Amino acid sequence: MQIKSAEFVKSCTAPGHYPEALWPEIAFAGRSNVGKSSLINTLLNRRGLVRTSSTPGRTQLLNFFLVNGDFCLVDLPGYGFAKVPIAVRKGWGPMVRTYLEQRPSLRAVVLLFDVRRVPHGEDLQLLDWLEEFAVPTIPVITKIDKVSRGQRARQLAPILEATGLPADAFTLFSAKTGEGKEEIWQRLEVAMEAPPKG
Ligand code: GTP
Ligand code: MG
Repeated sequence: MQIKSAEFVKSCTAPGHYPEALWPEIAFAGRSNVGKSSLINTLLNRRGLVRTSSTPGRTQLLNFFLVNGDFCLVDLPGYGFAKVPIAVRKGWGPMVRTYLEQRPSLRAVVLLFDVRRVPHGEDLQLLDWLEEFAVPTIPVITKIDKVSRGQRARQLAPILEATGLPADAFTLFSAKTGEGKEEIWQRLEVAMEAPPKG
């Protein structure tokens, strides 16, 4: 994918404030600190377009980006960070569920898993919602640079078991080395060419 332009459109929480659904859209979901913003920046070849942070739980809004004037990428709020105030944590479920259920231009969700963590809680909740609303899902295992090649199979086993997904469903990715970037672009292109649901 050649990136000619990438611009921030807006941040919001409720459907009444989403940008008009004029373009095919791909959203990125996963635990706080899993690397959603880093993945988007890597895909767009922009270091600082999407703010990344070593303090998890900063992004509590849906952030919309328009790429090449042609399609949208959405950075969804992360979850699972203990220091986030309870009121904010309670807001996450309805905000994300509503988006997944109601966004007509949504073509797929990239769901990120940290190679060093066993998926649980909201990770599995998200998989359920994506199935319930028939949103095509692109599962990605991130921070693969943290594990040596020889250790990969052993590290992946609990992720496959917890999600019930086969190994070949996942793209392995590293924002540090760029591994997996082209494969993710290919999967996004396929998803964006598919007809919209419903
Ligand atoms: P929230 O916005 O809080 O939900 O987090 P996020 O999912 O957007 O994570 P973010 O992209 O901000 O990354 C969190 C931290 O992980 C940052 O310090 C990144 O530099 C680091 N990180 C992200 N991806 C990778 C990766 O592939 N490899 C390594 N080694 N570090 C990564
Ligand atoms: Mg982020």
